[in-house]
Amino acid sequence: VTRYTGLIEHYRNRLPLAADARAISLGEGRTPLIKLENLPRQVGFEGELYVKFEGLNPTGSFKDRGMTVAVTQAVHEGAKAIICASTGNTSAAAAAYAVRAGVTAFVLIPDGKIALGKLAQAVVHGAVVLQIQGNFDDGMRLVKEIGETTPVAIVNSINPYRLQGQKTASFEIVEALGRAPDFHCLPVGNAGNISAHWIGYSEMAGIATSISAYHGDGRFLDQPLTGKRPRMVGYQAAGSAPFMRGGPVRNPETVATAIRIGDPQSWQLAWALQKESDGWFDECTDDEILATQKLLAGSEGVFCEPASAASLCGALRDIKSGKIAQGSTVVCTLTGNGLKDPDIVMRDGLKGLIQVPAERAAVEKALLAHL
Ligand code: F0G
Repeated sequence: VTRYTGLIEHYRNRLPLAADARAISLGEGRTPLIKLENLPRQVGFEGELYVKFEGLNPTGSFKDRGMTVAVTQAVHEGAKAIICASTGNTSAAAAAYAVRAGVTAFVLIPDGKIALGKLAQAVVHGAVVLQIQGNFDDGMRLVKEIGETTPVAIVNSINPYRLQGQKTASFEIVEALGRAPDFHCLPVGNAGNISAHWIGYSEMAGIATSISAYHGDGRFLDQPLTGKRPRMVGYQAAGSAPFMRGGPVRNPETVATAIRIGDPQSWQLAWALQKESDGWFDECTDDEILATQKLLAGSEGVFCEPASAASLCGALRDIKSGKIAQGSTVVCTLTGNGLKDPDIVMRDGLKGLIQVPAERAAVEKALLAHL
């Protein structure tokens, strides 16, 4: 038995890290690819529908995949501090991996509209938390400006090492299925993650991509190539959907605070991969997103955060319309854990909670009402 110690050690020969770089890891990666059983039946889908539950990474989101590689490289280059702008998950991961590495984390978060669990993570890991009077896009602009003059390593997804780490999710999916899926659906904010997945699939297939400045042409592979890549589908929240509007959205709003982003950093990569993969972008309303989060939790036992539900929300709609054909194999990424943001599902208060006296008869009566 070999102990799994994280994606850097596991995929070291496919990552552009120096051989002597000390891996800063929390055992991220190897998340489950869960085959949905009840939902496909409910909607009459005869293909295979999977969720890749990235909420089971150490800090509860896919950001850990990128952060392990970005922080490893930053520390290898001698960085004493890292910085990011974040809607919450990146800051949680940056804070945790900084502690692990023994460096300082500076995180810029928007004023309000950050899930409490994510803020708690930054605080408990001792990050220097700067709440700016602006949104994520303002924070991102500031981080880029500060990075030019201050000795801090930027660990947002404009750092190509982030995408290198995140591409490993595609490796795991191809390894689990024995092939690439027909469709891969993700929520899109900055579009870093969808780009990283395309790099990963391209590498597995041995096909060069026009975003191969970030590799993605199979050059690291020493095993048979699949030659196939999925069509990539990105879903945005309707109030924060620059890919649907054709340009930046000035005041993005959505209940899915993780993807409340109006000016995506990986704009060009995303359009390039949309063309290459023959995929598409679409949008989901806040109501649809929340309904899907509940549907998934209530019918499959998987609790993801609202932003994550956008992938499944769009996929189910496109399955119904036939855009995703019957018989297809579909993977939806669930980017973050629902526990990050319990407030959102408790909005209706403690509805469904039954108050009973601590007496056998009362408890039995309550049970019988539900049998
Ligand atoms: N889902 C979740 C849960 C996220 O936290 C993010 C991004 C995305 C989806 C979108 O991924 O930006 O690569 O397209 N969160 C960033 C953050 C912005 O600061 O945590 P993307």
